[in-house]
Amino acid sequence: MAEGRFKNPFQAVFTGVKDFAARKENVRPLNESDRLDGKTVMVTGANSGVGLAIAVEVARRGGELIMACRSGHPEAGERVKALSGSDKVRMEKLDLTDRASIHALADRLRAEGVKLDVCICNAGVAQAKPRKTPQGLEEMFMVNFLSKFVLLSRLLKDGTLPKAVLAGKGLPAGADRPRIVFTSADSHRNADPSDFDSLGVYQDYGVNGGISRYSYYKLVLNTFSSELSRRLNPDGEVDVGVHAACPGPVNTNIAREAPAFLKVFLNTWFRLFFQSPEQAAPPLVYLAAAEEMEGETNQYFHMMVHRRMDEKCYSPEAGQRLWERAEALAAQHGLWA
Ligand SMILES: NC(=O)c1ccc[n+]([C@@H]2O[C@H](COP(=O)([O-])OP(=O)(O)OC[C@H]3O[C@@H](n4cnc5c(N)ncnc54)[C@H](OP(=O)(O)O)[C@@H]3O)[C@@H](O)[C@H]2O)c1
Repeated sequence: MAEGRFKNPFQAVFTGVKDFAARKENVRPLNESDRLDGKTVMVTGANSGVGLAIAVEVARRGGELIMACRSGHPEAGERVKALSGSDKVRMEKLDLTDRASIHALADRLRAEGVKLDVCICNAGVAQAKPRKTPQGLEEMFMVNFLSKFVLLSRLLKDGTLPKAVLAGKGLPAGADRPRIVFTSADSHRNADPSDFDSLGVYQDYGVNGGISRYSYYKLVLNTFSSELSRRLNPDGEVDVGVHAACPGPVNTNIAREAPAFLKVFLNTWFRLFFQSPEQAAPPLVYLAAAEEMEGETNQYFHMMVHRRMDEKCYSPEAGQRLWERAEALAAQHGLWA
């Protein structure tokens, strides 16, 4: 299998802190005029960490919030309501390791006629050992990439994420284009080029293999983001904005599966040197809400630094092959059912 940038968790943590200290912000800070009034925004993994902080900001800025979560029902929703002062918050069940759960959510949204203005695919895991999903795929691969492919395919196919221009209807006067935003990681940089033949093949791994795969799957995610942007906006006219952002190093639950000895180190570093989720959420909220992003697509932020992803992610050939591989894996494992 192709390898990610980091060979062990120490390297990942030190690089995150170094990049954070060296960042040169080139994006204006979020301000009170970045609003989401009247917009329906779904955030996955919104019960914890970065996703919870994004959810609070979305609700505080007037968005109708759908928190698509595996756990935290109903307390995370109540917490977001209390912190944001908004009651336009609802929770939906979503387990991204389970085909049935993904389709059940898509079915519910379609049946209700929900139209998403923004979908923030934030949920992610860093695993120290592999586990099989009910459909026989590796869990981290599924959560960090393939489930997003399946869920977004359904939302787009159902019109839950509307594609007005592509449907030949044009945008209604004054309407903004929908946006899809991925929570990625700058650790995608310098990963090996994608190896499409072994992608998604279940293999054993330990802590170091887990961190390597985590960063490699973010390369895969960014390649998908870029390909999705091309496919949704084939003629250069932007119909749906598709973006990705790395929040930088954040003190969250992401290392919950690390072995005990490593957790002591990680928790100390996270507490001392990493940002809070509230400090880390702005690039994701900006991509979802900022007026400057209207009509834009395929943009990438590393914290509040607007920059390019690893150049490999923009390759149309890599995007095409990734798409074909994802479709084949989804079909092989019965994920469309
Ligand atoms: N922390 C960092 O330093 C950092 C840096 C760069 C990028 N990121 C990215 O930020 C995103 C959020 O991570 P975090 O740091 O905020 O960690 P976190 O607190 O552990 O949050 C992860 C979220 O993903 C959800 N999730 C995991 N597996 C799921 C599944 N099978 N189905 C549905 N939801 C699932 C979790 O739900 P449960 O609570 O139910 O497990 C949780 O809500 C991830 O994409 C991560 O890669 C984090």
